[in-house]
Amino acid sequence: MNAPTKTEDQFHQLIHQNHMWGLWEIASQMTPHPRPEAIAHQWKWSLLREVVKQSATAVPVGDERRAMQLFNPGLNGQWATTNTLIAAVQVLLPGEIARAHRHSPAAIRFIIEGGGAYTAVEGEKVLMYPGDFVLTPSWQWHDHGNETKETIVWMDGLDVPLTKALNAIFFEMGKEQRAQETKPVNGSKALYGHGTLAPTWTKMRESERPRFSPLMLYSWEQTAEALHGLRSHDGSPYEGICLEYTNPQTGGPVMPTMSCRVQMIRKGEKLKPRRVTGSSVFHVVQGKGRSVIEGKTFDWEKGDIIALPSWAQHAHSNAGSEDAILFSISDRPVLETLGFYREQTE
Ligand SMILES: [Fe+2]
Repeated sequence: MNAPTKTEDQFHQLIHQNHMWGLWEIASQMTPHPRPEAIAHQWKWSLLREVVKQSATAVPVGDERRAMQLFNPGLNGQWATTNTLIAAVQVLLPGEIARAHRHSPAAIRFIIEGGGAYTAVEGEKVLMYPGDFVLTPSWQWHDHGNETKETIVWMDGLDVPLTKALNAIFFEMGKEQRAQETKPVNGSKALYGHGTLAPTWTKMRESERPRFSPLMLYSWEQTAEALHGLRSHDGSPYEGICLEYTNPQTGGPVMPTMSCRVQMIRKGEKLKPRRVTGSSVFHVVQGKGRSVIEGKTFDWEKGDIIALPSWAQHAHSNAGSEDAILFSISDRPVLETLGFYREQTE
């Protein structure tokens, strides 16, 4: 390439000083395929367990939450596990309450350890046990409380980086520590937890329905039953027996911004590699396995959490002596709604 002439240099100076850049200077950002800054990364349970243990005495629950946010090493200290999602490990000790608040980012919880503590969502106390999947949708008041004698640990998943990128973060702290209970305990499960049988008296016109699932608790019992009931099916060659938690009123994702899934990779099963647009965070519920992500091997076991960036080729396989189960969250509904969803297989 020829050295820039004086006129060219002066011209670039002129435009840069005035907040302009030539397309020829930044054209490399229009990449032939996604090149995320987030990297594939694994947080091993052996480490998380130690962090959970130490957090109990090292930090108070305070007005915030004792939640250790998993920062992606490729994202330079941003509050993000992938470009759109944040995952965290949260700990609530016996007797503690995490103060009521609400925020525009939507949140999910997947319970890892301990049982009987609650998340109160918009007046409904939701009791949480290992393997349960709990929603706290956008702008719904929620507090957490542990009235049991054992520590509870769960994974949080939120669409914070996406909401932040859209400059749509709102947050409000509750005046009271606990929001008032206005609904029966696990009331949404009683109403909407029966799959294809739905109450008629709560039915709203489509235009009046909230954008999220009315069911706040998807219990492990039902999830495990569904997975085991489908064990003998072929499933997907890329995902195994993979089920999406759905909104019982629409059959769509539980939230407009996140798709949440649970997948069984059977003993001896080796899934095929694939790339998809959109990022995910995986949590190992059960078993041992291996994921090869862009040529890098991640050996995982129960409790591990793994970030999977957009368009990263990935293949999971079971490497243990029992069926493996993975829980995951992704931003797929956003990609699909906007027409950006793509996948590529061999
Ligand atoms: Fe929250």
